[in-house]
Amino acid sequence: MKKFLVIGNPINHSLSPKLHNFWIKKYNLEGIYNKKKLQQNGIEKIIKEIKKGEIDGINVTVPFKKIVISYLDNITPLAKETNSVNIVYKKNNNIVGDNTDVGGFECSLKHIHYNVKDKKVFVLGAGGVSPSIIFALKRLGVSKIFLSNRTRKKAEDLKKNYPDLEIIEWGDSVDFDMIVNATSLGLEGTDKINLSNKKPITNKLFYDVIYNPSKTDFLLNAEKLGNKIVNGKMMFIYQAQLAFKVWHNILPKIDTETIKLLNI
Ligand code: ATR
Repeated sequence: MKKFLVIGNPINHSLSPKLHNFWIKKYNLEGIYNKKKLQQNGIEKIIKEIKKGEIDGINVTVPFKKIVISYLDNITPLAKETNSVNIVYKKNNNIVGDNTDVGGFECSLKHIHYNVKDKKVFVLGAGGVSPSIIFALKRLGVSKIFLSNRTRKKAEDLKKNYPDLEIIEWGDSVDFDMIVNATSLGLEGTDKINLSNKKPITNKLFYDVIYNPSKTDFLLNAEKLGNKIVNGKMMFIYQAQLAFKVWHNILPKIDTETIKLLNI
């Protein structure tokens, strides 16, 4: 029986096991997908288990998407470009890291028929998922990306990879067509994102990478003002779909049953 894992810290919230086990069953595969909470010093052991064939693949989530790279033999060009790995597997006896967050984000925009080409996008957050979102936005042909992060240094580090980013002071706002919350603000349901806007923002797209809660404060306020809102659920499902394809060579169907499965 094939074994898969998602590693992270915290990991309790992860819906990856539910989704992957649903597809494993649906496609009559022999396998099991679990979650494991780790400290960084636990990564090496897991990678060795993949090398020995005791584990067939892992998903990597916060806060290990970058640090895991140092334990791998190879990474794909996409993982290299974003400096972020969310899936690991063995190929020709090498442990390979890849990134399906970029594709997941792109597919989620296609899913809602939102064409981001030539649009101005404001990205909040310079943490683990931000480089994947920035890379996807660039690949989709946006005209401008603004980036704001509480710790400015992290935004500046990202700008080294993507020089045409424009850094905005945390708390300030800009004129945008789409705004993405790629911070963890909203996960706890207490902290709020405060943007100082001169006039109310309306008719824009507000995207929150968080999917639990399904409507963060960021989305609730945006909706009240007449903006289109979308949470991170479809990005999550599509990144899992792409990972499933890598491991099982099957592109699982995303239908209403799949989407309902993750209703929280
Ligand atoms: P990591 O920082 O380890 O990559 P992450 O969950 O991928 O972890 O990223 C968390 C993001 O949410 C960061 O952009 C973080 O901002 P800092 O870089 O300043 O830490 C942001 N974040 C978390 N809590 C926040 C808060 N209370 N206010 C503003 N931003 C916050």
